[in-house]
Amino acid sequence: MAVPSPLLLLLPLLLCYGVGNVRCSPVHGSNIDLHSLLDFRQGITSDPNEVLKSWNTSVHHCRWRGVMCTPKRPWRVSGLNLTGRSLGGQISSSLGNLTFLNHLDFSNNNFFGPLPVLNRLQQLQNLTLGSNRCKGQFLTHLQILPAYHTWTSPQTFWWNNLTGTIPQTLGDITSLKVLYLYENQLNGSIPDKIWQLPNLVYLLLGQNSLSGGMPQALRNQSSLTTLGLELNMLGNTLPTNVGNALPNLVVLNLGNNTFEGQIPASLGNASMLQEIDLSRNKFVGKIPPLGKLSNLSYLNLGENRLEASYNNSWEFLHSLRNCSYLQAFSLSQNLLEGHIPNSIGNLSSNLQYLILSGNKLSGIVPPSIGNLQNLTWLGLDFNNLIGPIDEWIGKLTNLVRLNLRENNLNGPIPPSISNLTQLTKLFLGGNEFTGLIPPSL
Ligand SMILES: *[C@@H]1O[C@H](CO)[C@@H](O)[C@H](O)[C@H]1NC(C)=O
Ligand SMILES: *[C@@H]1O[C@H](CO)[C@@H](O)[C@H](O)[C@H]1NC(C)=O
Ligand SMILES: *[C@@H]1O[C@H](CO)[C@@H](O)[C@H](O)[C@H]1NC(C)=O
Ligand SMILES: *[C@@H]1O[C@H](CO)[C@@H](O)[C@H](O)[C@H]1NC(C)=O
Ligand SMILES: *[C@@H]1O[C@H](CO)[C@@H](O)[C@H](O)[C@H]1NC(C)=O
Ligand SMILES: *[C@@H]1O[C@H](CO)[C@@H](O)[C@H](O)[C@H]1NC(C)=O
Ligand SMILES: *[C@@H]1O[C@H](CO)[C@@H](O)[C@H](O)[C@H]1NC(C)=O
Ligand SMILES: *[C@@H]1O[C@H](CO)[C@@H](O)[C@H](O)[C@H]1NC(C)=O
Ligand SMILES: *[C@@H]1O[C@H](CO)[C@@H](O)[C@H](O)[C@H]1NC(C)=O
Ligand SMILES: *[C@@H]1O[C@H](CO)[C@@H](O)[C@H](O)[C@H]1NC(C)=O
Ligand SMILES: *[C@@H]1O[C@H](CO)[C@@H](O)[C@H](O)[C@H]1NC(C)=O
Ligand SMILES: *[C@@H]1O[C@H](CO)[C@@H](O)[C@H](O)[C@H]1NC(C)=O
Repeated sequence: MAVPSPLLLLLPLLLCYGVGNVRCSPVHGSNIDLHSLLDFRQGITSDPNEVLKSWNTSVHHCRWRGVMCTPKRPWRVSGLNLTGRSLGGQISSSLGNLTFLNHLDFSNNNFFGPLPVLNRLQQLQNLTLGSNRCKGQFLTHLQILPAYHTWTSPQTFWWNNLTGTIPQTLGDITSLKVLYLYENQLNGSIPDKIWQLPNLVYLLLGQNSLSGGMPQALRNQSSLTTLGLELNMLGNTLPTNVGNALPNLVVLNLGNNTFEGQIPASLGNASMLQEIDLSRNKFVGKIPPLGKLSNLSYLNLGENRLEASYNNSWEFLHSLRNCSYLQAFSLSQNLLEGHIPNSIGNLSSNLQYLILSGNKLSGIVPPSIGNLQNLTWLGLDFNNLIGPIDEWIGKLTNLVRLNLRENNLNGPIPPSISNLTQLTKLFLGGNEFTGLIPPSL
């Protein structure tokens, strides 16, 4: 982008002083921008890297670090990018006067205090005030395995600490495409108007203290592809039409909240979905069929109160055979009962993670599970499974981690277990196996 040279900048100023108020107005706008930025600078109480040293009036503000302007006179501020600059302080409400602002990125700093009112920014598309710590990989496959959770240890990370509520007025910025407030301390509920923003593509509000829920009937928001509300205190039931109103959803992460009621059947209509995380909530009842989600690769329903028992409540599992990209699937710590259906063997041959730990599953492990030859992690621990395991175990030659602890499995440890040359963790305790584990393992 062409940055105005000091000489060019002089020109409109001269015109302004020479001609009068009408010709002046664009410059006036630029002046408002200058004062808004200076006001913002005033609110910064900590700037260890002296980033804002360049924010002084001996240089045009369009040349200040992190400031971007429109390419033409009167060079209105169109972008502010101060990501990862270790800045601390409150975000001045003067930013609400930068009416040409298109994107604002203050991620990975140490801002605190309330979000300013920004509803005059009718060109704002991208508002990023969250942390980047989990960005781009906030659905890691490790999250499917809570017991082995490995958060990167908090080191030199910075993240914002914004408090208070999400202003209703954010819902008036109809240009918004990206609202990224991940990992702050925002509380209160998500304003209803946010669910009516017509251009919203990414709504990422995870890891705050938000309460309330989603509207009981969602309007059609076909722009939305990524919805991340994980790690909050959100609850109530999901809107029954969620999957119909959000037809283009690709990522849905509602993990670690207190959502309750049934998983709406309409979710099975959001056919673009690739990643679903509803883990650690209070969902109950039967799981709806999701077989229309042909791109689904990650499905985490762990730690809820979902049910399946002897009769027809396992249809969802049969339906998942159509999800041929499925790589990770967890139903750990729910209320599943009865036998694991044979159709488990029809799941995607791409499946790498299958976790059914901590239910009340009984009967034998269907030998068809041996079809899932790409499995690297299999967790069937803490159930009531019985019988020998020799029919399938030797086929799962890619297993890295196998957990069968605390069941009633029996019979000899099959010699074919030595086929599992990739194993690094093997848990067989709390069963009635006889014999010894081959020394090669
Ligand atoms: C003003 O900013 C420029 C860089 O844009 C820098 O060279 C100069 O030292 C700054 N002046 C003061 C007084 O900080
Ligand atoms: C924002 O600034 C950071 C650090 O200076 C830079 O790496 C990044 O590319 C910038 N982002 C945009 C969209 O300009
Ligand atoms: C915004 O600009 C108006 C002038 O247009 C001014 O009166 C007001 O103080 C500014 N607000 C902030 C918060 O800077
Ligand atoms: C929004 O801004 C962030 C940070 O500058 C950037 O990483 C992201 O790609 C932007 N998203 C869109 C859709 O423009
Ligand atoms: C966030 O703010 C709280 C107090 O409001 C403070 O105790 C905490 O250290 C802050 N965290 C960060 C990462 O700045
Ligand atoms: C949000 O938290 C603040 C303290 O940071 C508290 O005073 C306020 O009552 C809370 N608001 C809601 C709606 O929970
Ligand atoms: C939702 O809106 C999109 C775009 O405006 C439209 O194509 C689609 O038919 C609408 N869907 C419903 C269910 O109204
Ligand atoms: C998620 O919620 C569970 C309780 O359901 C809690 O034990 C756990 O610490 C939470 N995880 C995180 C990362 O906060
Ligand atoms: C799924 O979509 C179809 C076609 O739009 C509709 O008839 C059906 O009612 C939807 N299912 C649910 C459970 O909403
Ligand atoms: C699956 O993803 C591909 C590529 O992103 C897309 O073209 C296709 O429409 C998706 N399938 C469905 C059923 O949405
Ligand atoms: C197993 O995964 C590999 C990639 O990791 C893939 O190339 C292969 O086709 C998969 N095997 C099956 C049986 O799908
Ligand atoms: C052991 O693995 C080989 C392929 O590596 C397979 O052919 C054989 O059937 C397996 N043995 C058993 C007992 O499953």
